[in-house]
Amino acid sequence: MDEYIHDDDSYRRVQALLLEEMERGLGKETVAEATVKMFPTYVRSLPDGSERGNFLALDLGGTNFRVLLISLKGEKVNMQNKIYPISQELMAGAGEKLFDHIAGCISNFMMDHQLVGVGRIPLGFTFSFPCRQEGLAVGRLVRWTKGFHCQGVEGEDVVRLLHEAIRRRSDIDVECVALLNDTVGCLMSCAFLDHSTEVGVILGTGTNACYMERLNRVGTWDGDHGQPDQVIINTEWGAFGDNGCIDFVFTDVDRAIDHDSLNPGKQLFEKMISGMYLGEVVRRVLIKCINAGLILSGQVTEELDTPSRFYTKYLSEIEKTIARIMTAATCSTSALWSAREPLILPLPVSIATLLNRIDKPSVTVAVDGSLYRFHPHFHNLMTQKTQELLNPGLKFHLMLSEDGSGKGAALVAAVSNRIAAAAEANK
Ligand code: GLC
Repeated sequence: MDEYIHDDDSYRRVQALLLEEMERGLGKETVAEATVKMFPTYVRSLPDGSERGNFLALDLGGTNFRVLLISLKGEKVNMQNKIYPISQELMAGAGEKLFDHIAGCISNFMMDHQLVGVGRIPLGFTFSFPCRQEGLAVGRLVRWTKGFHCQGVEGEDVVRLLHEAIRRRSDIDVECVALLNDTVGCLMSCAFLDHSTEVGVILGTGTNACYMERLNRVGTWDGDHGQPDQVIINTEWGAFGDNGCIDFVFTDVDRAIDHDSLNPGKQLFEKMISGMYLGEVVRRVLIKCINAGLILSGQVTEELDTPSRFYTKYLSEIEKTIARIMTAATCSTSALWSAREPLILPLPVSIATLLNRIDKPSVTVAVDGSLYRFHPHFHNLMTQKTQELLNPGLKFHLMLSEDGSGKGAALVAAVSNRIAAAAEANK
């Protein structure tokens, strides 16, 4: 089972490669062949606590689709939300149908909250897929990830598709003023409370991170170079490794999972660690341990032998009851405990790479996603391992981001309103 455990040298090699890929993504001449796309987001200012107003937000891209109403009153935030299911059929059907469904959900939500006929409401759209943004409210989907594959959306501006669907209904008055990735929402929502937040990380269905970068290091930036001379970069690090550069850390299990996935050869880093795949990684490793006679007396049960039957949430549940399970199943604790570290290591490796690049003495890293939120040991393991991989003198702390995809969307919309109002006043 040694192939599942890498030494520190391998991880330092991965760090160097990730940094190289990130730099390639930021370069005007090199971005075309980059796998880590490093999209500039057009979000350049963080909240300062003075944000006010009522906003709608959409959250698409995790396990659930939600519509939210957020009311910002300085430090006080009120939120109401409703979850609307997205069927497998919608996830794989025509894009127009998906956007009609989304517009229908907005309409239903607005009726429920007496928001129809009260004037135009600004909306922030958290769309957690790789988008090349051409402005704060313009972004073309580069490719679907995480099990979505609706036709007619890749290459299109998703805000235009949303507005067209809203117009087709003609019963609501909503304007999408900001499009954002969930990582950006996560960062914004923590930055609202802690101004040293510069990184947002998601460890949920997928994994990704964004961070605040200096404009003079963003070769692909085509916006203005005025103040603030910074922009949040959506790294899309889930695609790290798609060019084969970290094949040396992939195991036969990683390769098998990729082979059986909806998008072979894509999102390879994401497939090592995120919630959509981690349960299956563990199931396959467990079967190997059983077959090698290491645990459960060589007996593979029918359930464990069923693909995708070991849900990622079991990891957290097992950890919480590990002592009891160990006794009942008479498994060797050492196999599971030593298996845990390599499972999560890709994340500290990539967080440390970002922090070393930012190179500030103390940075807060906002983190969200079910895997981080519900696992009893992720926080501590991540903190410990990330610190080990940091350059000397750098410090950080991980902060749980509370509902970034909703609150963050409202904050991006509110910050852009605040800046537009200030610019208008200065004219
Ligand atoms: C996938 C998406 C990315 C998102 C992440 C977490 O990697 O491509 O945009 O941020 O999942 O939801």
